[in-house]
Amino acid sequence: MTTIEVNASQSYQVQIGYEILDTLGQQVAALGKACKVCLISETTVWPLYGSDAEQSLQNAGFETCHFVFPAGEQSKNGQVFLEVLNFLAESKLSRTDVIVALGGGVVGDLAGFCAASYLRGIRFVQVPTTLLAAVDSSVGGKTAIDLPSGKNLAGAFCQPSLVLCDLTCLESLPEDIFLDGCAEIIKTAILFDPEMFEELMQDGPAFHRERVIARCVAHKRDIVNADEFDRGERQKLNLGHTIGHGVEAMSKFTLSHGKSVAIGTAIVARAAVKMGLCSWETGEKCQRLLTRFQLPIYTDFSAHDLCKMVLSDKKRSGGTVNLIIPQEIGECMIRPTPINEIESFIQAGL
Ligand code: GLY
Repeated sequence: MTTIEVNASQSYQVQIGYEILDTLGQQVAALGKACKVCLISETTVWPLYGSDAEQSLQNAGFETCHFVFPAGEQSKNGQVFLEVLNFLAESKLSRTDVIVALGGGVVGDLAGFCAASYLRGIRFVQVPTTLLAAVDSSVGGKTAIDLPSGKNLAGAFCQPSLVLCDLTCLESLPEDIFLDGCAEIIKTAILFDPEMFEELMQDGPAFHRERVIARCVAHKRDIVNADEFDRGERQKLNLGHTIGHGVEAMSKFTLSHGKSVAIGTAIVARAAVKMGLCSWETGEKCQRLLTRFQLPIYTDFSAHDLCKMVLSDKKRSGGTVNLIIPQEIGECMIRPTPINEIESFIQAGL
């Protein structure tokens, strides 16, 4: 098992290993003071791991309750958020009690925002069951729900008290869900880690799970420790996402997040080469690794349509959008790009 310590406004451990879900109860007990634990999960994950997680908590002496909502991004909304808050109140969770988020990014984001809001904040534990949640969303304290105007528009920074990543849960993920996580891993390698980049190129989707996930979490830890509130360096984690969200929205969310981010990353890499911001070799390497994971790197959507979507994304700030540009593998820069240059930037990368 690997343990990584995050030292943001709150310190906590990220534990990564096989068959550790049954230690959940003891670990929550070690946080101290709690009597009740509310598990929050969704309809795909709960039948797989719900009873093991709940049993572990009960064995450790906790009174438990659970709230399970329909699987999918469409549940990450204000109505489900209020339903969860009402459930917490009816279940009489107190300030010292704990929420456990058992699931992927949707569960972690929603449950985390409930934890940040209920009684002005109670503790929560992330138990990620997807690769994306394991390498990215369960660490760093970004919590949110979607609003009708866009994704993640209401939320809070709220660090978990513990992240417990049982690699056994990641073994049989559906392909799109697996690829969502792979796109984040490739992003991390391009941003920070030439050695992991080479390892991924060599091993492809058969990469060593614990080593690679732990390395991604360690990079995320460094970024979150340095810029918890996303005012500077943390924005680098948006590599491929700004244009990728445009692709995802244009496809009306029929293209998965991971595939959209892969296309976004490839567009940025090709545009950066054309504009002399990175070498041809670096641009090629980014695209080759994405292809190694059978991720797409081209789209038929026009620069005009993608630009419209990019400009409606929350990452716009005033008259510029911060695009993340790979300069070489392991080295990226934040490039504030005037909004009237976004369309031609995308066009250069199509
Ligand atoms: N997922 C990007 C971040 O945590 O900042």
